[in-house]
Amino acid sequence: MRAARVHGEGNTRVLRVDTVALPRVTPNTVLVRVHAASVNPVDWKLQDEGDLKPLAIPGGDFAGEVVAVGAGVTRYRCGDRVAGTVDQMETGGSYAEYLVAPLDAMVKKPARYSMQEASAYPTVAIAAWRFLIAGADVQRGERVLVHGASGGVGSMVVQIATARGATVIGTASARNHDFVRALGAAQMIDYTTTRFEDVARNMDVVVDAVGGETLTRSVAVVRRGGRLVSSAGSVPAETCRAAGILCPSRAPWDVPRGLAYVAPLIEAGQLQVHIDSVYTLDQIMAAQQHSRSGRTRGKVVVDMRASETAGALEPLQAYLDGHATGQEAHFRRAFASDAMLVGIKDGQYRQWPASEYIRVSSSGRAPADEAQRRRRIESLTINGQVATGVIALDYPDMIARDHMTLLKRDGEWRIVVKGYDASTPVAR
Ligand SMILES: NC(=O)c1ccc[n+]([C@@H]2O[C@H](COP(=O)([O-])OP(=O)(O)OC[C@H]3O[C@@H](n4cnc5c(N)ncnc54)[C@H](OP(=O)(O)O)[C@@H]3O)[C@@H](O)[C@H]2O)c1
Repeated sequence: MRAARVHGEGNTRVLRVDTVALPRVTPNTVLVRVHAASVNPVDWKLQDEGDLKPLAIPGGDFAGEVVAVGAGVTRYRCGDRVAGTVDQMETGGSYAEYLVAPLDAMVKKPARYSMQEASAYPTVAIAAWRFLIAGADVQRGERVLVHGASGGVGSMVVQIATARGATVIGTASARNHDFVRALGAAQMIDYTTTRFEDVARNMDVVVDAVGGETLTRSVAVVRRGGRLVSSAGSVPAETCRAAGILCPSRAPWDVPRGLAYVAPLIEAGQLQVHIDSVYTLDQIMAAQQHSRSGRTRGKVVVDMRASETAGALEPLQAYLDGHATGQEAHFRRAFASDAMLVGIKDGQYRQWPASEYIRVSSSGRAPADEAQRRRRIESLTINGQVATGVIALDYPDMIARDHMTLLKRDGEWRIVVKGYDASTPVAR
């Protein structure tokens, strides 16, 4: 697969797109074919600070399709559309065509969102939940000041606070005022011309997504007993005490809880995610540069499928015909000798070289001729170099379903993921 990886150290650190091995699913994880990823400031901060080592794949947020499931996974099946955010310090990140995600790093993709939108919302929605809800516990009728209201986090906070019945004042430069007002803000302050302290006083809650002196100066605009939370910094506890305000400690990072909180809002059409710009994987440096500018309105997205080129149906069909006969020679032709297969077979998670698969399949049960004729392709999607097929298999004593993901490499289709779905006994 193709993935952006960290190369070099210090000032020479860059991201380059490399061809790397497909990541391996482990128990309680799934393999996701990434349709889109989004850029968050934390991605490039981890790179700059050296927390992501050379050859690490950065990126947290993703949306895509499950193409293989590990042992013990019952919550997801091949073909499920999912969105979430992985811990890029722990596993390979989302700036890649495929990633392995633990189950608690994602949810089913919200139906209302496109793949690009679904890739754009996880981190910023979780942040909004963490700071505005779990931290500040904002209430109906309260007055909330949101710094950085037009950014990824701020735009979520404005909408969620509005949906909670709070009155929002936002800060952003003038070009973003109409945008934030449309999200629900009652009033906007242009921080480039006006000191927010001159407009917003005695606030019940301040949510800061800017940090630095914006955060420090915010202490003075919170009413006594009010709350100050920040996704971009912290205020010393002593300063908060002296000012008579509350600075709640950060709620734990919790993907399922954060995304569960916003799910009903998304379903009700009350939480939009604005996509500022879309880049291809090859443009990953430009995508991050956009985020680094600090001028993003909403989110920057990387569309993994944008660079795929048109493919042809015929070679895949030929391969499937060969596969259906169960003949060893066909397998040998179909797979590259060094191909690695990943998937579930007979209810067991398996990962094995194609050479072994050839042996296992050839010596396994050979379906009768009549059963072979009932083998049919239920659905087949070809997007450029990637094909996803669902094949219904009607054996004499069971029905089974094969999910396959194939990649076209060097002019040949090669299987990369094979998910052998549960078999169902057939009453005859
Ligand atoms: N801990 C967590 O859970 C967590 C999660 C997500 C993000 N974060 C952090 O939260 C911060 C914000 O993230 P983000 O994704 O929202 O960033 P972002 O999308 O890059 O923020 C860009 C926005 O900030 C606005 N802005 C810049 N300077 C401003 C200022 N002085 N006053 C008011 N608005 C200003 C810009 O508006 P103009 O163009 O109009 O200036 C722009 O729309 C980052 O530090 C990020 O690392 C933390």
